[in-house]
Amino acid sequence: MAKFLSVVLATTSLLFRLHVLEVALSQNAVETSALTHTSIVLPSSSAVVSAVLSATSTNTPLTSIEPSSTLSLTSTITAAPPLTTTTSFNPSSGPFPPVGSFPRDYSPAGLAKLWDVVGPVEVPPITTTVIPQTPIVLPSPPPALYPSFFAVAPEDILPDLKFPEGFFFGVASAAYQVEGAVKDEGKGPSLWDWANRQPGVVVDNTTADVVDLHYYLYKEDVARIAALGVNSHSFSISWGRILPFGAADSPVNQEGIDHYADVIATHLQFNVTPVVTLFHWDPPLALSAYYGGFASPNIVDDYIHYAKTVFTAYNGSVHTWYTFNEPQVFCSELAGFPFNLTLPNGVNSSTAQFQCSYYLLKAHAGAVKAFREMRITGEIAFKSADYVGMPWRANNTEDALAVERHAAFGLGIFADPVYTTGDWPQILKDTLPPDYLPRFTEEESKEILGTADFFAIDAYRTYWNAAPPEGIDACVKDFSNPAWPACNLEVMFDLNGWASGPASDPLSPWLQATPQFLRTSFKEYHRRWPTSKIIFSEFGFTQPFEGTRTPAELFQITEDTERTNYYMTYLGELLLSIHEDGIPVEGAFAWAIMDNAEWNSGLSARFGIQYVNYSSPTLERTYKRSAFALSEFFRQHLQN
Ligand code: GAL
Repeated sequence: MAKFLSVVLATTSLLFRLHVLEVALSQNAVETSALTHTSIVLPSSSAVVSAVLSATSTNTPLTSIEPSSTLSLTSTITAAPPLTTTTSFNPSSGPFPPVGSFPRDYSPAGLAKLWDVVGPVEVPPITTTVIPQTPIVLPSPPPALYPSFFAVAPEDILPDLKFPEGFFFGVASAAYQVEGAVKDEGKGPSLWDWANRQPGVVVDNTTADVVDLHYYLYKEDVARIAALGVNSHSFSISWGRILPFGAADSPVNQEGIDHYADVIATHLQFNVTPVVTLFHWDPPLALSAYYGGFASPNIVDDYIHYAKTVFTAYNGSVHTWYTFNEPQVFCSELAGFPFNLTLPNGVNSSTAQFQCSYYLLKAHAGAVKAFREMRITGEIAFKSADYVGMPWRANNTEDALAVERHAAFGLGIFADPVYTTGDWPQILKDTLPPDYLPRFTEEESKEILGTADFFAIDAYRTYWNAAPPEGIDACVKDFSNPAWPACNLEVMFDLNGWASGPASDPLSPWLQATPQFLRTSFKEYHRRWPTSKIIFSEFGFTQPFEGTRTPAELFQITEDTERTNYYMTYLGELLLSIHEDGIPVEGAFAWAIMDNAEWNSGLSARFGIQYVNYSSPTLERTYKRSAFALSEFFRQHLQN
């Protein structure tokens, strides 16, 4: 959430700081080429935005000569009309109501008032569940990408190494990002339904009102991934579909319960194991209006109630559960616009992240306690994110400390309390006063420690860390330092100025492909937060500039070379990590099942292994090369 904005802000200041850092280090024989590389690696946000907007509004006609493989990949190809989501509908909404002033009215009229906060929503082109008429048959696969002397085919990558039995070959998605039908069948608004309408929040001004319409097209979506041989799908449930008002004393929406029951049943029918996340960054708007959402202690009981409702509804059909997706990203973004307009009295942009972390951990622990007391069958954890870095300057003590700071503020803030100590990392306690970071009582520590059955990691990339130029100590003492409180820099190029890996789309400047560090990363995860089982819960890549292409360029969109290389190299390293390093990885989930609403980047940054034609009322999906590569890789490397 707010990933793009926060990252660009971070990178803008990081860019500045890296220049400063490099200037400082150039006296230490850093070559000037590093400066050139820096400016290429970290683009300015406004340039990116204008490039994307001008490109998406181009209506290129279909060329008269099409490769035949294009025709076999999709049912209809027409010249590209403009994006349906941006032409007829202008998203707009008002300011957030003063927190605490909103009446708790759980009637249909009360629900309508909540939607008034969001404003008008786009009506989807399809309004009932679509039942596919014919079985999904995979089209012919793409030809070899490169001559075999240059790169081997997916099935020939380490062909003798196999994934452990029962390995999850999965794809991932999240409710907000794929479902659409945002106001249908009794759903209450989520905070993102309001946030995506706030000025400047989503770069291409798109909402997720319709997006992939997975809410009605899930049967086809499940059939399509099953056709690839995908054996699991990690998706999230929208809290606001189950409890439109969010709160523990508010009514349950039976249509929401029934919907996910059928989604889960459809997965089981296709032998695709459903892996369910309770919360993927889409809190009910009502709870922010009533009391400030995750920045308030009231969230704890409401979340636990929601979790219990879902456990009760789907116990026995779902085995693997996540309480939260990437809590550190979610909480850090509460501090930024527009979410900082939803904070309760006494919490501000500086403290919001840490108040949220505290309440969220209590909510997580309470839900896991309930899970165990209710004897729900299966396993439960949360999805961690981020990486344990490497010192930018080898043998540099300050950079080694920077790595520790990055690990503590990124992963450790949630992983230490749950997996190893029951407490915040010491670095956090040494940096943040208790009015920022509430301290746990002994009782709370006991309740939190051990509340995960396995370790799940969204490991997209691994970089170097460096100390800020003024030094870590000076930074830690200076609340006004832009790097405070984490006081470390993320560096995406080596001392000679070479990138850690190929760049993704400029709209995801935080992401470079870094397969060469994957084994080190997994060793670190396992060493620091040991468990008997790890799930590689998300990894994926934006093919550069894919979002600027029109449907007429489908044959170029489906040729997603960089994404394919990303997946193949990561999976090869993952096999080595399992076989040579003994890391107990039991599943890998590609983000994403299809193109989707990428938070602040809207529809312009594409992570899908399937293309979605947003210009068409049927939103047809088309497999990209990466989907075939994944399918072939897993066919070769899965046992049984
Ligand atoms: C993850 C997040 C997803 C998706 C992905 C690509 O961190 O869980 O929702 O946005 O990144 O940016």
